[in-house]
Amino acid sequence: MSEEEMMDMEGMEMEGDPEPVELKNSTGENELVLPPLLEPENEKGIVYNITAQKGTTEIFDGVQTATYGYNGSFLGPVIRLTEGDTIKLRTNNALSEATTFHWHGLDVQGAGDGGPHQLLQPGETKEVEFTVNQQASTLWFHPHPEGATAEQVYNGLAGLIYVEDENSKNLALPNEYGVNDFPLVFQDREFSNDKQLDYQAVLNEDGTLGDTLLINGTLNPKLTVRKEKIRLRLLNGSNAREYTFKLNTGDKFQQIGTDGGLLNKPTKLTEIILTTGERAEIVVDFSKYKPSEDIAIINENGAVLLPFKIDEQKSNSVDLPETLNNYAVTEEERNLPVTKKIELFGMGDMVTINGKKFDMNRIDFTQQQGETEIWELYNKPDMMGGMTHPFHIHGTQFKIVSIDGKEPPASLQGWKDTVAIQPKQTIKLAVKFNNKGVYMFHCHILEHEENGMMGQVEVK
Ligand code: C2O
Ligand code: CU
Ligand code: CU
Repeated sequence: MSEEEMMDMEGMEMEGDPEPVELKNSTGENELVLPPLLEPENEKGIVYNITAQKGTTEIFDGVQTATYGYNGSFLGPVIRLTEGDTIKLRTNNALSEATTFHWHGLDVQGAGDGGPHQLLQPGETKEVEFTVNQQASTLWFHPHPEGATAEQVYNGLAGLIYVEDENSKNLALPNEYGVNDFPLVFQDREFSNDKQLDYQAVLNEDGTLGDTLLINGTLNPKLTVRKEKIRLRLLNGSNAREYTFKLNTGDKFQQIGTDGGLLNKPTKLTEIILTTGERAEIVVDFSKYKPSEDIAIINENGAVLLPFKIDEQKSNSVDLPETLNNYAVTEEERNLPVTKKIELFGMGDMVTINGKKFDMNRIDFTQQQGETEIWELYNKPDMMGGMTHPFHIHGTQFKIVSIDGKEPPASLQGWKDTVAIQPKQTIKLAVKFNNKGVYMFHCHILEHEENGMMGQVEVK
């Protein structure tokens, strides 16, 4: 290592980030598992049954790992919703501990949002009914009980929600599930010697990391694709790890969506960073590669996350539409005064928001239903420099108005529910809630959330 590199490394440590745990390369020996699509119980009333349960899963050949899952032993299905539909989510807790069902990114009334107030005891069932009122997007669901969110997610409770709308249905985007449209749920885990998940043994107060990446729960995954444009719906479902996704060739891909909607137009990128809770939809053009080529998604350190196997089969790859959406931050929104200030501070179990730790019995802010307010986030550095916090708000999709006074990059000019804020940064958000109730806002590093980096806004 050169002296310069050493200096760089020291610099990194000064930032106070947790010890890096490098990810192992995927050997590509297992074909990626696709989550099942959840069919409604009843077409007319559109009722979906979702059960949190325990089970065992063969993640490693010939070994049963104790895991949690929704409607299965590990992870969950994809719930597909269409804007305008009135649906019922019937949630059941078959675990031996309390849990909640939180719909991350869904525009739903506070009482049905599944925050820490809506505990389901073992054996309990609860229904949430609502009309889907948001744009085509890739959302997700996971538990949120106070003190056990991080562990339950770690054990496998996470599923996806796809929203479609009139616009997305009419756009010529790849949308054949498992053919040219794939979900990729990225989660790092640390397995014990006997290949079990022992959260308490590996818990890191600053964010639990593992050296083993699972995608959709698959160890050492590969994905077989045809020579065409392939849509990948990326979810960072890790407890804490941040990923920079790139292609090993350095080639560009196109981003088409953010957390809560499509971008206005496909945006060319060579890499995309996702912090925990964030999603992005990207399109990779495989028509230009030969089946013999080694193409893979790698991370910032070059670790192979997902190698692709390219099928001989040629299919006609159409161009992506030029216009996908009509998202905009309006002049009016730009001129609104800041009415809520959020200061994120600390690390480990010393994390706070506005100097306070989460209290279930304290409402931190109120906001009027349907009214847009400007929330100003500030990540206050500490003596160690501070760390990046993924800031998330429940029950809404917001707009990023500015980052340090400047327009956000193209890949953040779309509906968001989680935004990474680096030390010393100031970010302004335009936030509107369409429903009433109490909603959480928090750092999505699940251990920071558990350590109290969370507050509540009551929408009246
Ligand atoms: Cu993924 Cu409180 O949320
Ligand atoms: Cu959420
Ligand atoms: Cu944090």
